[in-house]
Amino acid sequence: MNDPRIAFFDRIAADWDHSGQNPQETIDRLSQLDEHLRLTPGLDLLEVGCGTGQITGWLASRVAPGRVVAVDFAEAMLAQARAKRIDAEFRRCDVCADRLPSRTVDLVLCFHSFPHFRDQHAAMKNLAGALRPGGRLLVVHLASIAAINAFHDGVGGEVAGDHLPNEPQWNRLLAAVGLRRTVWIDREGLFVLEGVLDDKQ
Ligand SMILES: C[S@@+](CC[C@H](N)C(=O)[O-])C[C@H]1O[C@@H](n2cnc3c(N)ncnc32)[C@H](O)[C@@H]1O
Repeated sequence: MNDPRIAFFDRIAADWDHSGQNPQETIDRLSQLDEHLRLTPGLDLLEVGCGTGQITGWLASRVAPGRVVAVDFAEAMLAQARAKRIDAEFRRCDVCADRLPSRTVDLVLCFHSFPHFRDQHAAMKNLAGALRPGGRLLVVHLASIAAINAFHDGVGGEVAGDHLPNEPQWNRLLAAVGLRRTVWIDREGLFVLEGVLDDKQ
């Protein structure tokens, strides 16, 4: 695996929970998005790019007795997450390269992570393949596409140019992996994309 972002995220892992987004504020804001997240008890959920597990415990509490598997490719981020003793399974996985088990989850959530996937088409294929028929892929940011893209360009270095696709690009990505777009929100303070794997597939 030769992605310079791994070293970048490993380097900032120890400070992640104390700089930038406040974990409790993040959960408070996500709690207001019930109608989009639909985190119902019993869902098996794959959290992609879980980082230090800032929202993983909250997700696990919402879907129990369903299970959360949380993946990330930065070992130092995962070490912070594991130290929290959250009731979830943390695994190292590069979603652009390491094949996820197929048809095992009801919901794939990419929270504040999708722009960093260096091969977004490969990642989408992998994530869609992990969904059970009827399952959903959710990509969520607490900011608009324009704000996220400008933020990453401002950070620079390894994450400069890490962008969320625009609407036509999303439509192509979804169609290529057989997901039907069901939610699209891109406004100040929020981006939500939902794609569904229809039952017949
Ligand atoms: C901006 S951080 C967000 C972390 C967490 N979701 C949060 O909100 O605190 C993005 C995360 O995505 C992970 N990531 C980026 N590319 C990845 C990939 N190809 N496979 C797995 N994880 C990846 C990074 O290691 C990092 O932890």
